[in-house]
Amino acid sequence: MVYKLPEWRSHLAGALHRSRAKPHSRYFQLATVSPEGLPKNRTVVFRGFLQSSNQIQIITDSRSDKVSQIAQQPAGEICWYFSKTREQFRFSGNLLLIDYQNNNSELIDARQAAWQKISDNARSQFAWPKPGTTRTDNLNLFAPEIPSDQEPLSTFCLLLFTPHQVDHLQLRGEPQNRCLYHLQSNGDWTIEHINP
Ligand SMILES: Cc1cc2nc3c(=O)[nH]c(=O)nc-3n(C[C@H](O)[C@H](O)[C@H](O)COP(=O)(O)O)c2cc1C
Repeated sequence: MVYKLPEWRSHLAGALHRSRAKPHSRYFQLATVSPEGLPKNRTVVFRGFLQSSNQIQIITDSRSDKVSQIAQQPAGEICWYFSKTREQFRFSGNLLLIDYQNNNSELIDARQAAWQKISDNARSQFAWPKPGTTRTDNLNLFAPEIPSDQEPLSTFCLLLFTPHQVDHLQLRGEPQNRCLYHLQSNGDWTIEHINP
């Protein structure tokens, strides 16, 4: 079956294409919710969409704080600004963590493919001391043996963000343009043009 892309995907693809010379255009802010109900926000790297889906791929360390936050509250938001095209995408959705214990064969393959795509340097970071704990004095621990480029370390997680609403603001234009896309229960997306 051919997967029909929602309209916001072509806007996003256009922004990514026009910003392709700027590596930072692939960074966005991902917000989660702490167990106390407080917002938590950080920059992560866009790793493409999971094949035949609108699920945004992110990679992360199982020992990082966001992982326990997501286990308790899977709701998240992504905020992504493209300075070249002067447009912002805000995604509301849910996060799903794919760790080494996952037993869905497609997701196991997606996690492995994500591991195989990153550099040795990036892979080594998953063998570093636990993130967010007191700085380790022994610098040798930050220069571990280079891990296998085939089998992910157990700390390596693929994070899938499934959007159900996309708020697209284009600063270009007089007046600016803003569009809200909503995912319906039948899988279709509605489009609403709203005031900026
Ligand atoms: C440019 C940039 C890219 C980053 N990319 C990622 C990423 O892809 N995945 C990730 O887990 N952390 C990434 N980080 C680090 C996070 O911003 C954050 O410091 C780390 O994930 C710990 O967050 P947490 O304690 O909220 O879990 C990146 C930081 C910067 C500045």
